[in-house]
Amino acid sequence: LRAGALLPLIPVVPALAACTQEAGPVEGTPRPLPIPELLEPDMDGDVATFTLTAQTGTSEFVPGTTTATWGFNGAYLGPTLLLRRGQPVRVSVRNELPETTTVHWHGIKLPAAADGGPHQPIEPGDSWSAEFTPDQPAMTGWYHPHPHGNTAQQVYRGLAGLLWLQDDDDAAEAGIPSEYGVDDVPLVVQDKRLAEDGELMDASFGTNVGVLGQTIVVNGQVNPLFEAEREVTRFRLVNGSNTRVYGFRFADGRTFAQIASDGGLLAEPFLTDAVHLSPGERAEIVVRLVPGETAQLISAEPRMGSVADPDDVGARDELAILTVTGPPAAADAGAQEDADADRTVPAVTAPEDLGLPAVLAEVPRHRADDAVETRQFRLQGFQINSRAMSMSRIDFAAPVDQLELWQVVNMDPIPHNFHIHNAQFQVHDVDGAEPPPDLAGWKDTVYVEPQRTTRLLVRFERYTDPEVPYMYHCHLLYHEDEGMMGQFTVVDGPGSGEPSAFESPAP
Ligand code: C2O
Ligand code: CU
Repeated sequence: LRAGALLPLIPVVPALAACTQEAGPVEGTPRPLPIPELLEPDMDGDVATFTLTAQTGTSEFVPGTTTATWGFNGAYLGPTLLLRRGQPVRVSVRNELPETTTVHWHGIKLPAAADGGPHQPIEPGDSWSAEFTPDQPAMTGWYHPHPHGNTAQQVYRGLAGLLWLQDDDDAAEAGIPSEYGVDDVPLVVQDKRLAEDGELMDASFGTNVGVLGQTIVVNGQVNPLFEAEREVTRFRLVNGSNTRVYGFRFADGRTFAQIASDGGLLAEPFLTDAVHLSPGERAEIVVRLVPGETAQLISAEPRMGSVADPDDVGARDELAILTVTGPPAAADAGAQEDADADRTVPAVTAPEDLGLPAVLAEVPRHRADDAVETRQFRLQGFQINSRAMSMSRIDFAAPVDQLELWQVVNMDPIPHNFHIHNAQFQVHDVDGAEPPPDLAGWKDTVYVEPQRTTRLLVRFERYTDPEVPYMYHCHLLYHEDEGMMGQFTVVDGPGSGEPSAFESPAP
């Protein structure tokens, strides 16, 4: 542990947090899992249009208490926007918050001016429109604010929603559960620090990694219950937390299939009993639940935020995420119900046991030999390559349509991850080893464990703009806000590894 490198990072524990007790995990009877509304667009000619309003409100995370929260078109989170590949989209965002925000479309390849990063501010009372045409495989994306220095607070209060990108030509979906909210269920997982009166505690981040709470909120619900209607259910896991890295698994250790990562379907499903997701990452899993049974989705992961407390190293946090029940028993007879109650979960030994096709998608592999440029990103402290994010500095210019090898090194003893805008990349290796199957598909965010190196292959397609930059950053939002972020443009013609000046329209 290199204390010298880290000591300056330990902020003063905010007074608010010091004088209020954090409430523990919520127990008692689970409440139904809310499913975010699936918003179909209004058509304006051939443009699919959506309207989002960022607003304040109150939520009831703990029965009998109220929590001041923020959301889109509601008090917490926002609707799921249904996008179709090749369909032009316009999203108008109105800001009814008391402060400046932006809205970024995480996972979508789109023009820099529509990206919704820190340079597309929306002042209180103003509106902003993003126009883009998604053209990439079906996937679960998400939208969230991205104002520089204030992303963590705004996401923490509840500003986030899903992008449900469909690809109508995608025959691979055949055989995969895909009825929204029925057997294809989004799970936006977040952790909160709630005070005993129910209010969100100051998230000004008492540790080097940012806020870690003991209250898990899924789709805005604490202690949620999902009652499956079918025997095979697809869950789209979205880590919408500021900091926490989850190790999702079922309490009984059952096997399930993972079918997708951030950028869409994997080439083929694989069986596993755990899924690790750092903030911003997504994974889709397919699980069998038999009639009459109850299962617990939990998270068991190494404890974080341990720098201030070395005794914590190696400790594990185990948190309940979701209670799931199997489908209703066949209606015919009580005898059948009794039989079902006794039924043990049949072992899943192959993806076919879940009705999944052997091949899900074509995922052409990038080859390191084809990379024309190599770039190095050293994550240390709150900086990348010893530089903190500056709104007025573009760090480099990448030529359009050129394969690049990005070497991302976590120099720290604490976790980081790495997210690139306007891209779906591939993991080439992790410390020289072939990526495991969950990292073998399209990714836009990747966990970089302490003191490890991940190499990525990335190509920026289509959109060039020598003026407006895209971001790359650690998606632990406290780190991002503190400066672990950089900017690049995508240009026609030769790029440049040299920084250049940028005049941001943001305040
Ligand atoms: Cu999910 Cu730059 O963000
Ligand atoms: Cu980080």
